[in-house]
Amino acid sequence: MIPTVSAQNAQAQIELHRALAPRYAYRYSLPFSRMFQDDWHAEMLSYLPQEARRVLDLGCGTGFFLAELERLRPGAVGLDISHAMLRVSEQYVPGARLVTADAERLPFREQSFDGIFCKGSLHHTRDHLKFLINCRKALSARGVLIMSEPCNDNPLIRFARWAMYTVSPHFDTGDKGFTKAGITDLCVRAGFEVIECRRYGGLGYVFGGFPDHLGLLKYIPGNVAIMRLMLRFDRWMVRIPLLRMLAFQVSIACRPQAGAS
Ligand SMILES: C[S@@+](CC[C@H](N)C(=O)[O-])C[C@H]1O[C@@H](n2cnc3c(N)ncnc32)[C@H](O)[C@@H]1O
Repeated sequence: MIPTVSAQNAQAQIELHRALAPRYAYRYSLPFSRMFQDDWHAEMLSYLPQEARRVLDLGCGTGFFLAELERLRPGAVGLDISHAMLRVSEQYVPGARLVTADAERLPFREQSFDGIFCKGSLHHTRDHLKFLINCRKALSARGVLIMSEPCNDNPLIRFARWAMYTVSPHFDTGDKGFTKAGITDLCVRAGFEVIECRRYGGLGYVFGGFPDHLGLLKYIPGNVAIMRLMLRFDRWMVRIPLLRMLAFQVSIACRPQAGAS
């Protein structure tokens, strides 16, 4: 039997993330990069309704965000296709509920969660619509899907991302970002009603997001204070109409449309 595009990609993602697992652990280990990740997590958590109790981190990777979710909503579940990434998760979130599975074939009953987070996992899959429909089915009627994905609205950023994905062995050239309009449209087609969609990430993302690729800041004294200033600048930047085109991520929150099957 010829493997489908999704099955081939699933295998490629497992291989890719086996090699990436130690790099992710390092990525989250520096005080200034942790500060950036905490800010990113705060962006995503800002969409979570108070009453949401049962949460899933879909594509939780090495579990740094899952640890935060477990603290806020005990019993949080982390799912990832890469067992190697989940092995690192066990260190951050001792006793966590971890599931090795493919997001394109979710192993949960319908309406199992009130909140599903996807921080950078949708673009690693090939059947985005199926991924999103699975999420909708796993959510309760008032549940919320909260995602942050690479933003491709700006041609310069799109080019930089393409160049990095082509040159570096740590990326898969098949992984593509989304435009704000494109991800909104996908969510609607998957039976979601979009609550809010914002852009996120500028200087903090570049200098704090990937110290394993771009480690410049780790050599600079006062890097935590510098990161604090960058994050403040980025929050301001995404509020200004033209400047917000410099953002590297798009964050989106949506809930199931009433009556979607
Ligand atoms: C960019 S990493 C992000 C990890 C984590 N959310 C974080 O922010 O550190 C993407 C994650 O998605 C996982 N992934 C890729 N394809 C997947 C799939 N089909 N199902 C579940 N997880 C998948 C990868 O193994 C990886 O851990």
